[in-house]
Amino acid sequence: MPRDLTNPIPQPIFKEPVFNETLVTADPAGFQQPHPSDDEVYKQIQDLLAKDVVGFDRSRIAPEEIFKLETALGSRGPDVVSQIERAAGIVFHALGDSGASNSRKYATEMQVADQVTIDAHTADPADRPAFLFHLGDVVYDFGESMFYYDQFYDPFRNYPAPIFAIPGNHDSFIVPGTPVGSEPLTIFRRNFCSEKPAITPEAGSLHRTAMTQPGVYFTLDAPFMRVIALFSNSLEDPGVISSEGGKWPAVPDFQLEYLAAQLKRIKDEQYRGAVLLATHHPAFTYSPSDVSGARGNHGCSSAMLRQIDKICLESGVYPHAFLSGHAHNYQRYTRELKFDAKEMDVPFVVCGNGGHAANPLVRSRRGQPSLEPMNGSRVDYLEVNPAVETSGLILEKYDDRNYGYLRISVNQDKLQIGFHQVSNQSILQSRYDLVTLDLKSHTMVAN
Ligand SMILES: [Fe+2]
Repeated sequence: MPRDLTNPIPQPIFKEPVFNETLVTADPAGFQQPHPSDDEVYKQIQDLLAKDVVGFDRSRIAPEEIFKLETALGSRGPDVVSQIERAAGIVFHALGDSGASNSRKYATEMQVADQVTIDAHTADPADRPAFLFHLGDVVYDFGESMFYYDQFYDPFRNYPAPIFAIPGNHDSFIVPGTPVGSEPLTIFRRNFCSEKPAITPEAGSLHRTAMTQPGVYFTLDAPFMRVIALFSNSLEDPGVISSEGGKWPAVPDFQLEYLAAQLKRIKDEQYRGAVLLATHHPAFTYSPSDVSGARGNHGCSSAMLRQIDKICLESGVYPHAFLSGHAHNYQRYTRELKFDAKEMDVPFVVCGNGGHAANPLVRSRRGQPSLEPMNGSRVDYLEVNPAVETSGLILEKYDDRNYGYLRISVNQDKLQIGFHQVSNQSILQSRYDLVTLDLKSHTMVAN
């Protein structure tokens, strides 16, 4: 049962991180904490979702520093890392938007959480996911402490590896009247950006210790790969990573300096691993080209992408792939770039169907039918004034009916991003999409 949050007790600091329960237990039948409907609150704050950004603290470590998987694992770190190195590759999970705010969503969140958990327990050791990277929107409707148990700790109680996360808009938007100290980012930081592996009040009677990320933006460094994670703030749309020259004065600019420092480090080190960039809000999400009729469920975050692109240009480093959530479906784009005199294919992958909802790519509007695109459609019109030289954008494949997660593999030559639908079938049978990228050339190759 969750602890009584109105009467907090001192939380133990563990010397070692703990990731899962010793005993595997059956799924609970429902929420421990009743979750009243958020419909009324939602109606009242609708206009604020387009303008209320949030401030946040700097990461604990310097902009050029990295947070190592080995550190997150505690004393087991060296062994796990040497196992990964012996296997000559790493595998990890990524998903977004898992949080369940009603019983129907709870069932789908559990299905997704159970499937990644089964995969993490049963895959061959050399192919076993080393961690889960959560792409944001962990707890709905706005990151309340009392819902962390039902929406995060309990569904993932048997997941036997670290879980890292970037906050989504639902983990950061502040509902007016929220008491000081209970803001969603404060709760998020307690559970994901702890200085030490402590059991938090949100974990209730479960044993997963808080993750020890250095901040809400950070670079996870693991064998063969790095994820540069940026916090894209609290708006429904678009993603915002800086003040954008004073447009969002509450948002600090230090993520720009951080991104520049990280890319410079990659350049200076002549880093050969895969570089992934993660933001909760996607740079690209589908909408039809005719803006008068049916439209997509979310907009692109073009200004955010332009800022990222500019910093990439200045540093001479472009990530191999971008990962996002937020739009509640799966979408994979290829952005064709000419960068540093090279032709590059850059996968932009949205995986926001981690349990909360699976929404159609297009919704009908003003009597216009919701015509869906074909896989492989050119969608160059989604590029708005790009800061890098682009030659095209292709919506390669999407799934807006099923829930699912990403299974990402990296070795010294290749990055592979697979999307797995959640079903009763086995893990391999449920793979719907797979893209393979050659790391050296940044081009797609046969799977
Ligand atoms: Fe979101």
